[in-house]
Amino acid sequence: MDIMHPAAVIGTNAWGSKAYSKAMRGSYVSDDILIEAIGESKKQDIQVFDMARDYGLGKAQRMLGQFGTQDIIISAKYTPFTHYKKGCVRKSLMKDLDDFKREFVEVYWLHLPTDIKEHLEEIVELYNEGLIKHIGVSNFTLEECKRSKDILESHGIPLYGVQNHYSIICRDWEKNGLLKWCQDNGILFWGWAVLEEGLLVDPRIRKKSPMKFTFNSKVKKLAPLYEVMIDISNLRGIKVPQTAMAFCASKGVIPMVGCRKPSQVKDLAEASRIVLTEEEILRLERAADEADVKIMGADLFRPFVLKERK
Ligand SMILES: NC(=O)c1ccc[n+]([C@@H]2O[C@H](COP(=O)([O-])OP(=O)(O)OC[C@H]3O[C@@H](n4cnc5c(N)ncnc54)[C@H](OP(=O)(O)O)[C@@H]3O)[C@@H](O)[C@H]2O)c1
Repeated sequence: MDIMHPAAVIGTNAWGSKAYSKAMRGSYVSDDILIEAIGESKKQDIQVFDMARDYGLGKAQRMLGQFGTQDIIISAKYTPFTHYKKGCVRKSLMKDLDDFKREFVEVYWLHLPTDIKEHLEEIVELYNEGLIKHIGVSNFTLEECKRSKDILESHGIPLYGVQNHYSIICRDWEKNGLLKWCQDNGILFWGWAVLEEGLLVDPRIRKKSPMKFTFNSKVKKLAPLYEVMIDISNLRGIKVPQTAMAFCASKGVIPMVGCRKPSQVKDLAEASRIVLTEEEILRLERAADEADVKIMGADLFRPFVLKERK
């Protein structure tokens, strides 16, 4: 597995305690199954795990550390909920490394564009100490990405990637040029929640969960899109959610999917190798645009970004 060309990424934000998993996903998956899912990721060569300190109310990272992190690739983040304070990123990364039982992480993201320069410069220090191998930014606009690239390049470091929301029904970052800018500049685009929290799956077998209940009012409007997804899945002999994953992969977006089970990891690996035809892509886009449904939204976390200090 080459971190410069990951086929797909496994999201872990629903890993955690029984109560948390039930609240997020409506069901709990035992540690044994998560360990099997990690094993499957190695078999499928997609062993990149996306983490953040708050995932699973802080438990997801510790779980991964306990399961063993020696032969997987770790993507971790610093989430600036407050303004920059000297040493804040270092302190957080040290805790992460302790959780992971690791001496470095492969990719480290600035999770929100608050105090970009200050936070990135501290991340650069940690990079220069070998604690971080690649630096990315998450939930950044095109303008913020350009600034971040310049800041990193002034230290001789390339911007590794951008991690923003992307799915069939949420292509704002493509429409406004960020995806193309990434591609033109050799910067990876990791798309988070490509299944829109489990709503872009097979509507005939969708399970109930509090998260899905929250967005349920939108499901009816997605019916014409589901029809196209089912049709393409039938024609290709793949599963409906695999169409959503393959759509992203075909656009040059690295699909990030919240997987907790070996079968989900296998679905993701298979889908990431599928290239949809232009006609299939157009059919999906047309149906999505006509449905005009927003679930997660391109810039969901903007309200958490603090204003620049004067
Ligand atoms: N950078 C950021 O700000 C940010 C924000 C959000 C998320 N993320 C990252 O992106 C990852 C993915 O997002 P997400 O987990 O929120 O949502 P998601 O991947 O869009 O959806 C997860 C849902 O899809 C279901 N699912 C997964 N694989 C499936 C398959 N093969 N067949 C049928 N259903 C399947 C899961 O089912 P089960 O309920 O059965 O598990 C779960 O309900 C996160 O885990 C996180 O790492 C990053």
